[in-house]
Amino acid sequence: MNLIFLGPPGAGKGTQARLIEQRMEIPQIATGDILRAARASKTPFGEAADRYMSRGDLVPDAVMIEAVAERLQCPDTAAGFVLDGFPRTIPQAEALDAVLAGMGRRLDRVIAFEVAEDTVIRRMSGRRICRASGHIYHLDSNPPVTPGVCDVDASPLYQRDDDRPETIRRRMQVYREQSEPLVAFYQARGVFVAISAEGEIEEIYQALLAAAAPRVRG
Ligand code: AP5
Repeated sequence: MNLIFLGPPGAGKGTQARLIEQRMEIPQIATGDILRAARASKTPFGEAADRYMSRGDLVPDAVMIEAVAERLQCPDTAAGFVLDGFPRTIPQAEALDAVLAGMGRRLDRVIAFEVAEDTVIRRMSGRRICRASGHIYHLDSNPPVTPGVCDVDASPLYQRDDDRPETIRRRMQVYREQSEPLVAFYQARGVFVAISAEGEIEEIYQALLAAAAPRVRG
């Protein structure tokens, strides 16, 4: 099953992609996580990306396309993948089409998370991430058992530097201008499904399973 999750920052794409990864045994390919790992390792790629990420801007298409094309070649994608955060522009979507065609593969579903702007602002403002593996929490809606500590691996939780109010506003603007046109792009291909991303995590997960692959619902 080859899936794309579209939606504004803070919509819950990463939270759901991790659940789908476990359920369907296909890897979550989250470009934001790839970039944050490169930044933490201080690679030239990560340091160049940091300038864009900390402003809330998109990293240039060429480098993102190359990173995703390389990741899709890994053997763990043989049964499928969940692309979370890619594509984010029409040129990225066109490049992805070409990469998949070159591999003899195609997209099964593009699922858009529909959610109100005040909801995503609330979700991003309270988000906390585990330093070791990127497990996602929220101070109110999904808190860890012990404050400040990851339930899974006991590593410290941190707040993303792009979850500051001024960067959140910029990311929302970038999403509207550069990523929203992807909805029409994928609607025209007949693989597009929109789900409501309001409500509880479990409720959205069930809607997502139904949208992604009705036969694995449950
Ligand atoms: P990226 O990391 O991809 O950020 P994003 O798309 O902006 O998405 P987020 O990670 O903010 O949100 P999410 O939808 O995954 O929500 P989450 O599940 O965490 O990108 C970061 C930056 O990298 C970009 O700004 C850009 O600079 C660069 N970049 C990345 N990809 C790129 C690309 N392709 N091209 C160019 N640049 C790129 O949930 C949010 C919070 O809500 C959490 O606290 C969670 O616990 C909580 N939550 C989730 N679901 C619910 C629920 N149902 N109810 C209540 N709380 C919930």
